[in-house]
Amino acid sequence: MNRNHSRREFLCVGAAAAAAWPMGARSLAPMEETPQKEEARAVRIGVVGVGGRGHGLLRTLLSLAGVEVPAVCDVREDRARRAAATVKESGRSEPEGYSRGPEDYRRLMARDDLDAVLIATPWDWHARMAVDGMKAGKYVGVEVPAAITLDECWRLVDTCEETGIPCMMLENWSFRRDNLAVLNMIRRGLLGEIVHCHCAHSHDCIAEWYFDSDGNPRWGGEFLVRRNADQYPTHSLGPVLSWMDINCGDAFAYLTSTATRSLGINDHFRRKRGPDHPSAQRTYAQGDIVTTVVKTHRGNTIVINNDMQLPRPYDNRWMIQGTLGLYDEARASVYIDDVSPKRHEWEPFAPYQEKHDHRWWREMSEEQRAKGHGGTDYLELHLFVQAVRERSPLPIDIYDSVVMSVITPLSEMSIQRGSAPVECPDFTRGRWKTRKPGFALEG
Ligand SMILES: NC(=O)c1ccc[n+]([C@@H]2O[C@H](COP(=O)([O-])OP(=O)(O)OC[C@H]3O[C@@H](n4cnc5c(N)ncnc54)[C@H](O)[C@@H]3O)[C@@H](O)[C@H]2O)c1
Repeated sequence: MNRNHSRREFLCVGAAAAAAWPMGARSLAPMEETPQKEEARAVRIGVVGVGGRGHGLLRTLLSLAGVEVPAVCDVREDRARRAAATVKESGRSEPEGYSRGPEDYRRLMARDDLDAVLIATPWDWHARMAVDGMKAGKYVGVEVPAAITLDECWRLVDTCEETGIPCMMLENWSFRRDNLAVLNMIRRGLLGEIVHCHCAHSHDCIAEWYFDSDGNPRWGGEFLVRRNADQYPTHSLGPVLSWMDINCGDAFAYLTSTATRSLGINDHFRRKRGPDHPSAQRTYAQGDIVTTVVKTHRGNTIVINNDMQLPRPYDNRWMIQGTLGLYDEARASVYIDDVSPKRHEWEPFAPYQEKHDHRWWREMSEEQRAKGHGGTDYLELHLFVQAVRERSPLPIDIYDSVVMSVITPLSEMSIQRGSAPVECPDFTRGRWKTRKPGFALEG
C-alpha cells in the first residue's frame, strides 16, 4: 500500500481512525483559543442550497472566526442574493452567486479557492452533489439524509474511498449535549453491556415544511405522495450509532419495517382547508407511522419510529438499555441497579449530565450554546471547520453517514414485502469488526 493510499483511507474512515493518528487531530483545541488560531488560516467554504436550512447554516458558519464564504449557490436567485447579503453584512467580502440552473453548483465546486462545500438542497440532490464535491477535491458537509437510495449510498462510499476526500452528513443530533453525556456514561460502563435502544423522529412537519402556505406539496411533500418508508431516519439514529458502536465493533445485520395506514395528511387538510382541497383528496403512499426494528450482528436491537404527519409535539424518545440500567430521554431519567437510590425507581438525568458532560460542551460559552438547535449546529460546524483547517478526518465519516441514510430504502423494501426482513449492506466491507470507536473520544 503506498503512502497516498493510506492517507486516502485514513481520511475516509474519519474520526474512527483519528484516535490512532499521530497528530491527534481530534483532540480539540479549547474553544476559547480557536479564534486566534482561526485567524491564521481562513477556511473557505461554498454553500449550495440557501433556503431555510442552508441560510441558517450559513449564519452559524459566519459566527465562526476564520471562515470565509466566497461562493453561494441556489437555483433561486433571490435566495442566492439574500445569502450573499448575509455574508456581506457579517463584514466579509460579498460572495459570488451561482443561480444559472440546477447544475450550476458544478461551477461553484470547480473553483480552486474553496476548501469545502456545505450542501442543503432537497434530498434527491444530496448524494450527486456530495459525489461531485469530493471529485472536485472539496471537503463535503451534506445535510440529512446523505442519500435516499441504496445505489447513492454505495456511490458516496466508493467516491470517498477513491478520492480520499472526507464527506460528512450533517447530523446535528449526534452533537446534542444530553446525547454526548450519555455516550460518556456508556463508555464509562454505567449502563453495563448495551442490548437495546429505542429512538424516534416524531415531528409534525405537514403545515410548516412538507406543504406550502397554500397547502400544496413542497419538494418534501412530493416524497410523501410516492414513497412509503422511514424517510427521515438520521435524527433518530445520530447518537445511537456511537452509543452502540455501530461500524466499530458492531453493525446492522438486517431490519424489518412496518407502516400504518395513511390518514394524517388527508385529515389535516380536510380539517384546515375543507374536503375539496387537493391535498385533502390526494392519495399519499406514506403511512403515518413507520416502525423499524434493526437487529445487529452482536444480537442487539434498535427500534426506530418515524412519525412526521400526525399532530403532536416534537419528540425523539431515546431510550438505551444495558445489563446495569437504562437512560430514558423522554422522562429525562436514569435507572442504574445498585446505584439509583431506590430499587426500580427512576432518578433524574440532570446530575448525570452535569457529571458526565462532554468536554465539547464544557468548553462552549453561553453565547455559543444559544446558537442554532441549542448550540448543536454551532458545535457541529465548529468541528467541521476545524477538521477542514487541519486536513484531518471529519467527526462523522462516510460509513456512519450512509448507514443512517440507508434506513430509507431498506425500510421501503421491507414495507413493500409485507414487513419481511431485509439485509443491511456492510458499507465498511468487513472493517466494522476491527475498527475502534472514534466519535467524540475526548469526552
Ligand atoms: N439538520 C437539520 O436540523 C435540518 C433542518 C431542516 C432541514 N434540513 C435538511 O436541509 C435540507 C434543505 O431543507 P430546507 O428546509 O432548507 O429546504 P428549502 O426548500 O427551504 O431549501 C432548499 C434550497 O435548495 C435550493 N435548490 C434546489 N435545487 C437546487 C439545485 N439543484 N442547486 C442549488 N440549489 C437548489 C432551493 O431553491 C432552496 O432554496 C433538506 O435535506 C433537509 O432535510 C436539516
